[in-house]
This record gives sequence, structure tokens and C-alpha cells, in this order.
Amino acid sequence: AEVHHHEFVVEATPVKRLCRTHNIITVNGQYPGPTLAVRDGDTLVVNVINRAKYNVTLHWHGVRQLRTAWADGPEFVTQCPIRPGGSYTYRFTIEEQEGTLWWHAHSSWLRATVHGALIIYPKHGSYPFPTPKKEIPFILGEWWNEDPIRVVRRAARTGAAPNVSDAFTINGQPGDLYKCSNKETTVFTVAPGETNLLRFINAALNNEHFISIAGHKMTVVAADAAYTKPFTTSVLMLAPGQTTDVLLTADQPAGRYYMAAHAYASARGVAFDNTTTTAILEYTNSGCPTKNRPGVLPAFPVLPAFNDTPTATAFAAGIRSPRPVKIPSPIDHHLFFTVGLGLFNCPPGRRCGGPNGTRFGASMNNVSFQLPTRISILQAYHLGVRGVFTTDFPAAPPVQFDYTAANISRALWQPVPGTKLYPLKYGSVVQLVLQGTNIFAGEEHPMHIHGYHFYVLATGFGNFDPARDAASFNLVDPPLRNTVGVPVNGWAVIRFVADNPGVWLMHCHLDVHITWGLAMAFLVENGVGKLQSLEPPPADLPRC
Ligand code: C2O
Repeated sequence: AEVHHHEFVVEATPVKRLCRTHNIITVNGQYPGPTLAVRDGDTLVVNVINRAKYNVTLHWHGVRQLRTAWADGPEFVTQCPIRPGGSYTYRFTIEEQEGTLWWHAHSSWLRATVHGALIIYPKHGSYPFPTPKKEIPFILGEWWNEDPIRVVRRAARTGAAPNVSDAFTINGQPGDLYKCSNKETTVFTVAPGETNLLRFINAALNNEHFISIAGHKMTVVAADAAYTKPFTTSVLMLAPGQTTDVLLTADQPAGRYYMAAHAYASARGVAFDNTTTTAILEYTNSGCPTKNRPGVLPAFPVLPAFNDTPTATAFAAGIRSPRPVKIPSPIDHHLFFTVGLGLFNCPPGRRCGGPNGTRFGASMNNVSFQLPTRISILQAYHLGVRGVFTTDFPAAPPVQFDYTAANISRALWQPVPGTKLYPLKYGSVVQLVLQGTNIFAGEEHPMHIHGYHFYVLATGFGNFDPARDAASFNLVDPPLRNTVGVPVNGWAVIRFVADNPGVWLMHCHLDVHITWGLAMAFLVENGVGKLQSLEPPPADLPRC
């Protein structure tokens, strides 16, 4: 196994998109940021130097971080932020993961521009599919003409929903359907007949995406750095946080074909960015220049409608483990967490910009997660600092009703702010039902757990019913994922072994929802107040 050393300088960089130049925060001046490529079993040592004006932390999305919770990165959960002028070295080893993951800032909305691919090659030997000719990462992103930090700070002040983005991007470029973007549209060339591996990452802040390529089918072979049973499709759906690797064979007539992506907008009546981003697939034998010639437009793919829930759900359900797996059992913790939006009353004497003068909020089991501000939860636990968090996160919601019904009285269900953890005994088996709610609006929530991946046993619509729905569990070949889409007004059931000591955030990967509190954290320890086998904190761990 190798050790890879990298230096990541976080800094303001002028970038021109949609006809305007402004400063965005980047790593090493690149947007998207540098691609990291390692083999399974390798160690990454990334020295992050903060030369920007904002606090920053980096998170290695999907990396298990076994015994290295200090390197996980969410600010005020496992570390204090790296202040402007400061630095911190993340050191961790990839253990038994292959495929595509990614890294991103985990501080306010810096993730909008501070992100990049993390590619994990097999330890030895090759892929469980024919070796592709080329491998190409495709990072879906979201672009604001304004500084995204200003967008979210304004929303926090007013209680209103933040502005939707001004463009979607593929590898940092909006593509030629947006103004001033034609020349820079991402072009990828393929030789006729050859098969390439496309590694898709949805790094968008607040939108799930449908992706399609005109005239071509794709064969899905991996998701969230786990191989899958291959299946062929003309459309992909990725939630923020998810990755999907596909094989693409250039088996069509010579020419140029659009790749296009737009939002899967699962909520009804909620504003979203309804624009479309493009890249171009160009055959090497097509004999035309890489730039668009007026009047000669490539073929355009058919994308599902924005609200095409059946297509989005069918795609997710098609992802399976390649062969039967050993499902962890028996279950030690039966948990039932609601995930959903809510509305806070406006503080007295203020005016709030949410619906009917409220503030937007979000919660799990009615607790709206608040980050500490003076120390991280993991540091507080390690040092025995009191008053930072409590360990009374409820295992079930405090109120029972039809979660998916519209127009439930707010008085019945108004989120309560708190920094509550749920303690899991090290080594225990956890089954978690995630139930979407419709208090204010129903929406698909891509739920991500730090430090773990999990089997997705089933998803469904309506209220989860244990008697009826247990029959639908896939106990043979469920997919292993780190981010699961909880269907709109529906549920998902996941199972995992709590084999990684530490404090682990679970949250909706739509940043607007984590901003509103759609998160909680697990505390995984050995039951006597010890973080079993956790390595000691690094000497340069930032202090608050
Ligand atoms: Cu991809 Cu908490 O993050």
C-alpha cells in the first residue's frame, strides 16, 4: 500500500461563469478541485492550508474512517474549523472500498465550490467488468452568481428559503444552453467501438439530478464505492452525495451527442432551479471541430420530467449488490427516525420571511440539530467537556400520526432545537427506518451517514408499516450505500453494524436542509464512556 501526500490550499480564485467574473473559494485554484486517485488500502495525507476569509473543514465523503474519526471533517462535529491562516493535516486509510467517492468542504455552504473526486482503484488485479479504455469523472455541480455563503447567511437572517442556483454544471461548466458558456462546454471524446468508465458524482448543493446521454445506454457497475449488479439504463438519477459508475460503449454512428442533466424536483410547489446543464460526447471519427458549429447541433437526450418520481425510484431500486451478502443480524437497535421539514415560529419582535411569517426549519424525530459553536462534539466527548451535547436523541418520534398527510397542524409538530446524540454500543447491529414527513412539504431526502455505509433493505411510499413492509425487505442482495434517497412521502429501511468508534453525523445531503437542522449524530462507544480503539487526536487538530 502507498501513502499519498497532497497539499490543498483553500483560497479565493477569480472564475468566469455566465458572463461574469467573481471570486469563489477553491482548492489550489481549481474548480472543481483536484482529483485524488488511490488504490484500496492506500493512505491519504492531505495538508489543508486555509488562505480564504472563511472557516473551512474538508470531509472525505463515503470514506469509512475506521478508527480515524478525527479526519472525518464536519465542522463542530469531529473538529473545530480551520481558521483563516490555519492548517490541518487529514490522515486516513482506505479500507475495503473500491469505486468513486469524493471530498468536499463541510462548513456552511463552501461545498458549492470546494469539492473534487476521490477515485479508488482495486487493491490488486482488475475490475469485475471488462477493463475500460478511459475513465472520466463527471462532477455535477450548482452555480450561484452570488457568493453562496452570502446566499445562506441572508436566508439564516430572514428565515426565508435561500435563492435557487443560477446554473447547474458538469465538471464546473454550465454548458451551452446558458449564456456565455458555449465555448467552455465540457467535451469528451470517445473512439468508435470502445468502452469507457464514466464516474458520476452529484456534488450539487440542493438538487437531485437526472442524467442522460443522447442515443446511448449506460451500464451501471458501481455506486457509492461498492460494485453493483450491472444493469443497463438510458437515464441515471443521483442525489447529492451519491456516486454512480457506468460503462458507456461508443456504439452509435459517428457524431456528437449531448449529455444533459436537470433537477429531479420531488417536492410539489417548492421553487427549484429548472435549468439544464450539458456536456458533449464526441466521436473521434466524427470529423468535426470540438466547438459548436452554428446550425449543426448534436442530438439531445430525452430527460424525464422534473417530477418523474416513478423513474427516479425505479432507478434507485435497480441498484443491487453483485452477489448475495451476509445481512447483519440479530438487530440490537430498532430505530425509527422521521426526516422532514417544519416551520419555526418567528422570534418575538422580528419579521420572518418563511411561509405566513415563520422561519423554515427541519428535523429528525422533531429535533432540529444545532451545531455547537465553541468545541466539536468529538473533542468534547474525548476531553469530558460537559454541556456541549446530550445523549437523549429519541429512538422514535414523540407524536404518532399519518406522517405523509398534508396540512398537519404546526402546533402539533414544531421542531425543537437541540444537540442530541443517539448512543450505539460498539459492534451492535442497527436497523433504522427513515420516515419522510409532509408537515410543511413532502420531498425526497438523500440521507447520508458519516463513517458508515449500510445496506438499503427497502424503500416505499406512505407510512412505514412494520407488519406489512417487512415482507418487502431485500435480505439477499441489497445495495451497500452511504447516501439513500428517502422517497417523497415515503420511507427507507437501512441496516449496519456500529463497528466504527466516534461521533458520526447523519443528515440530509441537501445543504439547505442541513442548514435548517435536518441532522442528528450517533455516538458509537463501548458502553463505559470509551471510544473503543479510536486513535488519539492529531497534534494539529484545530482548536476553537
Ligand atoms: Cu457529503 Cu456530511 O457530507
